[in-house]
Amino acid sequence: MVGLQWGDEAKGKIVDLLTDEHDIVVRFQGGSNAGHTVVRDGKKYKFSLIPTGILNPRITGVIANGVVVDPVSLLQEIDTLRGAGVHIGDNLIISDRAHVIFPYHRKEEEGLEGAGTKKAIGTTMRGIGPCYRDKASRVHGIRIGDLLQTGLLERRLTSIVEVKNKTLAALLPDFEPFDVKQLLDQYQSAAEKLRLHVVDTTEYLHTALAGGKRLLFEGAQGTLLDVDHGTYPFVTSSSSSACGLAAGSGVPAQRVGRFLGIIKAYTTRVGEGPFPTELLDEKGDQIRNRGKEFGTVTGRPRRCGWFDAVLASYSARICGVTGLAVMLLDVLSGLGEIQICTAYERVGQQLHTLPADAETLAQCKPVYVTKPGWKCDVSAANRLSDLPAEARDYLDTISALVGIPIDIVSVGPDRNQTIRLR
Ligand code: GDP
Ligand code: IMO
Ligand code: MG
Repeated sequence: MVGLQWGDEAKGKIVDLLTDEHDIVVRFQGGSNAGHTVVRDGKKYKFSLIPTGILNPRITGVIANGVVVDPVSLLQEIDTLRGAGVHIGDNLIISDRAHVIFPYHRKEEEGLEGAGTKKAIGTTMRGIGPCYRDKASRVHGIRIGDLLQTGLLERRLTSIVEVKNKTLAALLPDFEPFDVKQLLDQYQSAAEKLRLHVVDTTEYLHTALAGGKRLLFEGAQGTLLDVDHGTYPFVTSSSSSACGLAAGSGVPAQRVGRFLGIIKAYTTRVGEGPFPTELLDEKGDQIRNRGKEFGTVTGRPRRCGWFDAVLASYSARICGVTGLAVMLLDVLSGLGEIQICTAYERVGQQLHTLPADAETLAQCKPVYVTKPGWKCDVSAANRLSDLPAEARDYLDTISALVGIPIDIVSVGPDRNQTIRLR
């Protein structure tokens, strides 16, 4: 299950819904930049690094090798979720190969993003990018398994912190150097508390598959934030399309039977970067207020705009999507006419796919098809026939433009506000 837009497509709701048909839920990329919400019986649960599926006590949640983990904030999340009544014990396992986010990664991100209100990328400031950079550059990467080896960790951290302190002093004017001993104590003690959860998750997943267990892969972010296939450089630093699944978990893609692509009935984006269908008028405000489009992680207002079929079909193709879940359809009720972007226009030419560079995308003007809206509230619909003809026509148009059938339609945050089609 992956997002086909710029994240926040309501993946959390879908994971929760699908846990009844699965045994294991796997996070394979990203980290605590994710914020996945589930509403059950009116109660709201927020998941960040921990797989959302764990809300169902039958499910084992797996944080696989492709995820980046700050053990200190992971323990905080465990505490918060336990406080909300979620059981977390041996139903959570963490890869020994997952890379560790340290406080110096967040400091590096502060330096890279810039101090003013206009940020370079508009990241979530969770240290995600600098941690993946250290993973790729190898010299400064530390993995969860390393935290559990005292001598090795002390040696590695001593040489790394020396370099980080020098570079950070040059980057940030009021920088206070990190103390190796303090970091060591804090991270070793956090790792000790997590020790029983740490395993070779790839081995675990293959054994589970051989035993007939059903796996659900929970994508975080969305395909347009993928470091290779997204709107680079305004992306995250992991493979957040379905392409990241195999590398991030060690399970080959051909073992996956179905790829569910999650889309909002409109489009949102948080942070900087081009957004061709963005609405900067009162229609955008209307969508933001009705959809409560404020970030789960940072609280930032999400930028809102019309559904972009150019981007959604591009993403669906990259992810090999076999079915769509169309979310937040209720938010569009009462809007009058609704627009769908079917192509871009740039210097007199029509484009039907995502251009490589952000500057070109920023120059693209959307070509719209206008659909009649609907006035009535749809949030109690649980069959397609409960929806007004205009809403059904809107769904048919989206499905035809993306070229993928719709499996699920969501008309409200709660579990029961769902129409299952396939
Ligand atoms: P995720 O990151 O993809 O899991 O999405 P978020 O949790 O960040 O944002 C989705 C928001 O939409 C959450 O607050 C959900 O509770 C809410 N939501 C999910 N489905 C629907 C829906 O069909 N209608 C409305 N109005 N809200 C929904
Ligand atoms: P979920 O899983 C929406 C965005 C940030 C920023 C860019 C890079 O809840 O859908 P990062 O901190 O990852 O380096 O930031 O990516 N971003 C998200 N936007 N939903 C998310 O996750 C996001 N995770 C990162 O706003 O523009
Ligand atoms: Mg989110």
